Amino acid sequence: SPSYRRVYQYCFTSENVRMSAPSLLILYGSQTGTAQDTAERIGRQAQRRRMQVRVEALDRYNVANLIYETLVVFVCSTTGQGDPPDNMKNFWRFVFRKSLPAGSLCQLDCAVLGLGDSSYPKFNFVAKKLHKRLLQLGASMLLPVGLADDQHDLGADGVIDPWLVSFWESLTALYPAPADQDLIRDDEPLPPRYIFRFLDDVTKNEVDDRLRVPEKPIPTSPCQTQPFMARMLSNERVTHPSHFQDVRHIEFDITGSNIEFTAGDVVMMRPCNSHEDVEQFCQLLKLDPDRQFTLSPTNNSTCSVPAHLPQPCTLRHLVETYLDIAAVPRRSFFELLATFATNELERDKLSEFSSAQGQDELHAYCNRPRRTALEVLTDFPHTTAELGVDYLLDLFPEIQPRSFSIASSLQAHPNRIQILLAVVRYKTKMYFPRKGLCSCWLASMDPRQGNVHVPLWVKKGGLKFPKNPDTPVVMVGPGTGVAPFRAVLQERIAQGWTANVLFFGCRSRSKDFYCGAEWEKLMNANQLKLFTAFSRDQEDKIYVQQRVKEQAELLWELIANNNAYFYIAGNAKQMPTAVCDALKGGFQSHGGMTSSEADDMLVAMESAGRFQSETWS
Ligand code: 2AM
Repeated sequence: SPSYRRVYQYCFTSENVRMSAPSLLILYGSQTGTAQDTAERIGRQAQRRRMQVRVEALDRYNVANLIYETLVVFVCSTTGQGDPPDNMKNFWRFVFRKSLPAGSLCQLDCAVLGLGDSSYPKFNFVAKKLHKRLLQLGASMLLPVGLADDQHDLGADGVIDPWLVSFWESLTALYPAPADQDLIRDDEPLPPRYIFRFLDDVTKNEVDDRLRVPEKPIPTSPCQTQPFMARMLSNERVTHPSHFQDVRHIEFDITGSNIEFTAGDVVMMRPCNSHEDVEQFCQLLKLDPDRQFTLSPTNNSTCSVPAHLPQPCTLRHLVETYLDIAAVPRRSFFELLATFATNELERDKLSEFSSAQGQDELHAYCNRPRRTALEVLTDFPHTTAELGVDYLLDLFPEIQPRSFSIASSLQAHPNRIQILLAVVRYKTKMYFPRKGLCSCWLASMDPRQGNVHVPLWVKKGGLKFPKNPDTPVVMVGPGTGVAPFRAVLQERIAQGWTANVLFFGCRSRSKDFYCGAEWEKLMNANQLKLFTAFSRDQEDKIYVQQRVKEQAELLWELIANNNAYFYIAGNAKQMPTAVCDALKGGFQSHGGMTSSEADDMLVAMESAGRFQSETWS
């Protein structure tokens, strides 16, 4: 039984000797912050049980130390097409090394909680695979892997709460809590993670000392902590003014940045909150936006000071660039808010939203209408007025960087990055329209009114293109899905590679046919075969999958006889499946395959890298 070989820790005090649970390590891999939030929530539950706890992103943790750990919870989400999040990529490579001996983690008790979305094919792939691998390496599991689903887990019937109950039960069974152990109650706030010290509160010398930070080496290319300030050169609407959607073609100057990229890569940007939101926030919390402070972690906190916040920093800068006040708040926000509520009505409501039973109601109040954290604060004015600054970084997550497929190539546009940006604005039952933070922030910038600069960096993307001039590429990119294909077309055509096929779909030739003139020019020069589907230019809807079906013969010829690569990119959820079905239909009609042979052929193409997709919702 695993409990025989467990290493117990003994806490010696002057009066007694008692057995206690080892310290708990919570490691997360998180792309948009949900897994991080869940990890931090488990961390707070552990603190309330008076356990020693550390919460860290997997790639910040020195993974070689895992062989010394005794108790670890892994909280990992799955992104894209079954990929691990960026902040666990190094860990992922390490843990799957063939050279790791089978029993290397036999001292470890652990638990794996996965966060995924069942509307994607590889649901919770990362958590499942990690769970299997940890068992292989000899770790003991405290309970079965938890597989939370974004499609359901926001309501009361979620996976996370019951999983956490079982987790604490198994842990208590292994390490029974001492009878005299007093828990910290849920309505008592835990200490904040950071201490704010205002410049008007400390002497000048003290500040000077703290500001003497070691010089950082200049990075060879810009990254998340040191982005490049790129000048925006143009920001043009490419949809007809009467079209429902505002889509922009935006160009940045990256001269002198050392940034390099190839087709398929993405540009990353971290947006800011709007001035109006910042002003409103400061008013609600009665903050003086010009006050300057320095930040340090509290004694028992393992977090480091956010790297891209200057020290000292004004409250305005913190709110504008760091606190995600325009996002729909998560449950943990309500949990913490509830601990500050003194007004009875507000406290009851906030406690209900924090409870497992209140999740359906929270979903209806917050997630469905996409209510922002700032709007929630206005609904709880008494509590908000008492918040102050101490817990700002506990309450609000950091604004996450956004990625955009690069839509240009360095060969065609040296020193430039271009993107195609759909401006996100839509109505819910809320009075004001919902606005995408990053797209509206970018759309609001007008380079004709003076210099505008945007901090950015570049990251390898998921799509990889063949390096052989004779290998044809077939690309299906409706809407802004065409962005990475514009980059690869520019790259290939600059080298004289002309075996290019593009399927493009939009609503109307005259309203949202992005880069239409460019495609037609390439087509006339025999550098591109173009097939378009304008869904609303006629009675019946025509989608890209119909064009793929019509071109079955050509596609079979290219794929079966010319080793073509096939790509799908775009943001319609059903589109990729419909395109795959159309493609497989062609394998059957023109390749004489059975339905299962056609399935196998697509799987084989995918494992050979000849079928790739990048989809988003
Ligand atoms: P629609 O909006 O007229 O339905 C780019 O957004 C294009 O993708 C639009 O023409 C849009 O058509 C189309 N689209 C919407 N749903 C789709 C689906 N399931 N498959 C393929 N294309 C789709």
